[in-house]
Amino acid sequence: MTVSEPRIKRRLGQTDIEITPIGLGVMQFAGGAGVFGMMFPEISQETMNGIVGTALDGGINWFDTAEIYGRGRSEQGLANALRTAEKQDDEVIVATKEFPMFRAARNIPRTIHDRIRFLDGYSIDLYMVHQPWGVSPPEAEMDTMADLVEEGKIRSVGVSNFNAEQMRRAYAALQKRGLPLAANQMQYSLLHRKIETNGVLAAAKELGITITAWSPLASGLLTGKFHKDPEILSKTPFGRRMRLRREIERSRPLVRALEEVAINHGATPAQIALNWLIHFQGEAVVAIPGASKVKQAEENAGVMNFKLTNEEMTRLDELSRVFR
Ligand SMILES: NC(=O)c1ccc[n+]([C@@H]2O[C@H](COP(=O)([O-])OP(=O)(O)OC[C@H]3O[C@@H](n4cnc5c(N)ncnc54)[C@H](OP(=O)(O)O)[C@@H]3O)[C@@H](O)[C@H]2O)c1
Repeated sequence: MTVSEPRIKRRLGQTDIEITPIGLGVMQFAGGAGVFGMMFPEISQETMNGIVGTALDGGINWFDTAEIYGRGRSEQGLANALRTAEKQDDEVIVATKEFPMFRAARNIPRTIHDRIRFLDGYSIDLYMVHQPWGVSPPEAEMDTMADLVEEGKIRSVGVSNFNAEQMRRAYAALQKRGLPLAANQMQYSLLHRKIETNGVLAAAKELGITITAWSPLASGLLTGKFHKDPEILSKTPFGRRMRLRREIERSRPLVRALEEVAINHGATPAQIALNWLIHFQGEAVVAIPGASKVKQAEENAGVMNFKLTNEEMTRLDELSRVFR
């Protein structure tokens, strides 16, 4: 096993914020709340406390949530769990997002108070526009985000799911206000490598913007559990089930390789997939795996305690190139 220096933090974009290469995504905490929450089973506050506490114990220092994740349910569950873990505001990094669909940039200062209220004393270190679907152009959105930084309501600005051109426009708009664009949160995993070919990753590297990889385990597919036991698909909510079913066969050779590499490290396939993601592109990519169980959070934090060899990374790269 190649042991890396454990839990080395990375700079978030060109900000002074330091984050661990693995964060915890808490979309699952929306379970049961509203239309969005129907995609996930409800998680008790006790389990949320266990997941967040375990992530913190494993060295994770940051958390990703959003307005759309149950309209406050996920943010509130996270804040409660951080308080239960007796974490002070300055000991953790919290990222959340505004949902811009059918909304203009002026919505951003209107709804920030809800985010602040649900996060209940934990500051917003990174505030993102969740999708490039707003009624206003990126320039107007970034201008209102910059106002929030100046007013001390948020610490840094990011976007999510912005293509290369939209990201460059957001970057330029913030630059005019003397601020960096800290992050673009994109789907990225061994099964979804589009950002490598559509210009987003190259532009992010050029401009010093951190890519925070969402669905880094391809919603659990890269753990190998669905390949081993397709029956568990029937317990997965309908929307996710259809997508996972389509991808099982295509990903079988890759998952087999993950299992083999995992043996070399006394690790799990999920840990190998995440380790590849946070090292293959140097320091440009960090990942925010979600967890619905305490054990998963423990495993995912453990990814920061080792590093794949170059040969192992190349082998996984070659097997997953079809997903670029
Ligand atoms: N910006 C965006 O548009 C966007 C979109 C999607 C997600 N996100 C963010 O990205 C985060 C992660 O994405 P995601 O939850 O969709 O996908 P993911 O991290 O790829 O998959 C999470 C799921 O994988 C399973 N899992 C996690 N760790 C595991 C482990 N060690 N062993 C076995 N199974 C494990 C769990 O499934 P079970 O619950 O079935 O056990 C968990 O719910 C979200 O929480 C959210 O913060 C952002």
